[in-house]
Amino acid sequence: MPSIAFYLLCSSTVVMIPAILLQLFFWQGVRSEPPFNNPPGVDIWCGKAYRETNSSFDPGGWLFAPNESSSPLLDLRFYPRMNLYLKNERTGTFIVDAPLSYISGSAYKNSTFVKGESKPVPFVTLDFQIFSSLSPTPLAYGQVPVNSTGNEFLFNLTSLPQHLTETPIHIIGSSPDGLQTYYSTSRVILLPARNDTGSVARIDRLYGGIQVSSSLTKTIWKPIFPYSFYTSWDWISSTINDASATKNLYTFRSNGYNIIHPIPPGGSDPFNRTTFEQFLKICDELELYVMYDMRHTYQNLTSISNQLSILQSHPSLLLYYTADEPDGSCDPLNATQLSYNHIRTIDPYHPVSLVLNCQNFYFKEYTSGADIILEDTYPIAVNTTFSSVYNTVCNSTYGDCGCDNCHVGDNNYPPYVHNRFLDISARLDNFANYQEWIKGGEGGFKKPVWGVPQAFWDNGSFWQRWPTGEEQVVMGALRINHGAKGIVAWSYPTSTEIEEETGKLAKLFEREEIVRTVLGSPRQALQVLGGDGLVDAAGWLSGVEMLVCVVWLGYERLGEKVEIVLPLSKSMRVRSVGTYWGPEGWKAEGRNIVKEGVGALEVGILKVSVEACAGVACNA
Ligand SMILES: *[C@@H]1O[C@H](CO)[C@@H](O)[C@H](O)[C@H]1NC(C)=O
Ligand SMILES: *[C@@H]1O[C@H](CO)[C@@H](O)[C@H](O)[C@H]1NC(C)=O
Ligand SMILES: *[C@@H]1O[C@H](CO)[C@@H](O)[C@H](O)[C@H]1NC(C)=O
Ligand SMILES: *[C@@H]1O[C@H](CO)[C@@H](O)[C@H](O)[C@H]1NC(C)=O
Ligand SMILES: *[C@@H]1O[C@H](CO)[C@@H](O)[C@H](O)[C@H]1NC(C)=O
Ligand SMILES: *[C@@H]1O[C@H](CO)[C@@H](O)[C@H](O)[C@H]1NC(C)=O
Ligand SMILES: *[C@@H]1O[C@H](CO)[C@@H](O)[C@H](O)[C@H]1NC(C)=O
Ligand SMILES: *[C@@H]1O[C@H](CO)[C@@H](O)[C@H](O)[C@H]1NC(C)=O
Ligand SMILES: *[C@@H]1O[C@H](CO)[C@@H](O)[C@H](O)[C@H]1NC(C)=O
Ligand SMILES: *[C@@H]1O[C@H](CO)[C@@H](O)[C@H](O)[C@H]1NC(C)=O
Ligand SMILES: *[C@@H]1O[C@H](CO)[C@@H](O)[C@H](O)[C@H]1NC(C)=O
Ligand SMILES: *[C@@H]1O[C@H](CO)[C@@H](O)[C@H](O)[C@H]1NC(C)=O
Repeated sequence: MPSIAFYLLCSSTVVMIPAILLQLFFWQGVRSEPPFNNPPGVDIWCGKAYRETNSSFDPGGWLFAPNESSSPLLDLRFYPRMNLYLKNERTGTFIVDAPLSYISGSAYKNSTFVKGESKPVPFVTLDFQIFSSLSPTPLAYGQVPVNSTGNEFLFNLTSLPQHLTETPIHIIGSSPDGLQTYYSTSRVILLPARNDTGSVARIDRLYGGIQVSSSLTKTIWKPIFPYSFYTSWDWISSTINDASATKNLYTFRSNGYNIIHPIPPGGSDPFNRTTFEQFLKICDELELYVMYDMRHTYQNLTSISNQLSILQSHPSLLLYYTADEPDGSCDPLNATQLSYNHIRTIDPYHPVSLVLNCQNFYFKEYTSGADIILEDTYPIAVNTTFSSVYNTVCNSTYGDCGCDNCHVGDNNYPPYVHNRFLDISARLDNFANYQEWIKGGEGGFKKPVWGVPQAFWDNGSFWQRWPTGEEQVVMGALRINHGAKGIVAWSYPTSTEIEEETGKLAKLFEREEIVRTVLGSPRQALQVLGGDGLVDAAGWLSGVEMLVCVVWLGYERLGEKVEIVLPLSKSMRVRSVGTYWGPEGWKAEGRNIVKEGVGALEVGILKVSVEACAGVACNA
């Protein structure tokens, strides 16, 4: 924004000057930083008035798509693949992305001179070098195709300054003739290896997975796909010493849940220390990873310090969770970041997460304090246009219907009547877009998103019933298809039906081959033929195998043939289709897989083997 002086000097209209001075005067007179527009005494959720005694106003905080440039821009980005490295590691890698974009980057012209040619040639390969500002020799250099992403380059961790935990780095890219140049910055985090029994957890920014190293993994980095629940502390503490309890932490773990997220009761010292220590010991013993929730205390830095001190030596600690729906309750916009910075000074070894409840409310500010973003979109058996709890209509500027800006079942939004799960997939896609607009983490990588499926029912709340087991599977699988790298449903204990189905899915997502594929290869949305727009499919190709997840979003059986188009080259075809989850019946058909008819809310998780072929055999 130009300075005031600029306006004063350049404004051709004299009336502007008093207007600006007036604004300055009022800004100083009122609150220094008014974050929300609610008048005093007006309760808000996601910035909106929701009581029938109050009227609607624009909540603000909305993130808009940036304006598009008329010509393509080259958006050079790079970042270390892992958000941290340890000093006992020798090498790391950089990810270099050079997408053409219409919203960010620098001018790109598809033309360059090269040695030995008198005429310009297309500019299709970008030369780059990556430097630390503290060393004259590059850490890495090479070439990447223009408009490619995910290019990986090895670098020596030993050539970083060893006395720094954080080394600023930069990349310079150029066309072969050096006339078009690009620049970006990032940093490498290098930490001492731990000398206690505690764990280190980090994020693979290339595919978004979390991985952990500790005595439990024999200090080998182990990728984890979390599949579990927020869990009642009351349930944990009441079963922990009760020999007659039929369900306890041991049955929880043997159900397949690989992490646990205890829900803290209130108070600035929320958990009973003695019981919590006992809980942590059992988690260490069971290799049950802990997502440590500080929802009531994350704005109290003293309390954070106290709580973190008792966790450090436990190998089962996986990550922190600070704010629970800070956007819903309209916590101060700097709260998540302040908390994040404080946690970092005490423990740089574990990522920090938080959940957002609103569809589009100060996304940038609240997510600035997180490494992992969760979304909790609850569209089952909810009325999105009228709030039975507050007796008001709900729309983009008013009301709280339990699912912010959701449209399930709303006749004004026909796609959401047709597909009753669209609010979930749209929310994940929204979060991916917002991150694209604000360039997510430093260097432009996307922070991982985890999903919180609806696995509860409170009588008298916004929701009319329990989700079914089938709906639960759809809600989990759909999120994974749209990029979720962890599932933590709200909440345990849940219904028997949900418990059984999620247990089976959790066991599947603990299998080494599944974890390796979903957290070790790029996700691709797959094209579907047939299926009335209600089939959602994604695939992860790893070598000659593709994991395919197909979700039928219809509540009724579909008789017709459904066909999924796999992104294979013309010299490849499907050899066989195996079934990890769901009914048999998927068959190979050239480069596609097909099934005659799908049952209500059917989910298929398939192991598709592909092979090379030639000539007519490719179409067989
Ligand atoms: C908002 O509603 C509350 C009661 O819920 C009332 O006390 C207050 O005066 C209302 N404020 C405005 C500005 O309407
Ligand atoms: C997009 O351009 C319009 C018109 O020039 C402007 O009013 C608007 O603020 C711009 N939006 C963004 C996000 O920059
Ligand atoms: C650049 O031009 C070449 C030759 O016309 C074309 O093959 C290539 O796709 C173009 N690349 C981009 C990024 O526009
Ligand atoms: C750049 O890549 C994107 C995504 O792969 C593709 O959709 C787009 O057409 C490409 N642009 C050019 C100019 O090749
Ligand atoms: C990394 O270090 C090894 C041994 O110290 C050396 O041989 C190698 O050339 C270095 N690689 C790079 C990219 O600097
Ligand atoms: C263990 O590591 C911590 C943190 O790096 C360090 O302060 C401490 O001195 C180390 N202790 C031993 C015994 O090496
Ligand atoms: C914590 O729990 C233990 C065991 O149930 C109990 O004896 C103790 O009084 C509790 N401590 C507090 C501070 O409530
Ligand atoms: C913050 O936490 C500390 C330590 O638990 C506690 O003594 C203090 O009362 C808390 N402050 C607030 C404002 O809750
Ligand atoms: C955080 O924001 C609040 C206003 O919401 C302000 O009062 C406070 O000073 C800010 N804190 C810091 C450390 O910037
Ligand atoms: C939302 O509903 C309120 C109350 O009926 C109404 O005043 C407001 O104009 C509506 N907002 C929009 C964007 O339609
Ligand atoms: C939501 O509730 C309103 C008021 O009771 C009702 O008119 C409307 O049909 C309901 N919508 C749905 C989708 O159930
Ligand atoms: C839900 O609450 C209503 C009103 O309090 C009650 O009539 C109904 O029986 C309750 N339903 C269940 C399943 O508990």
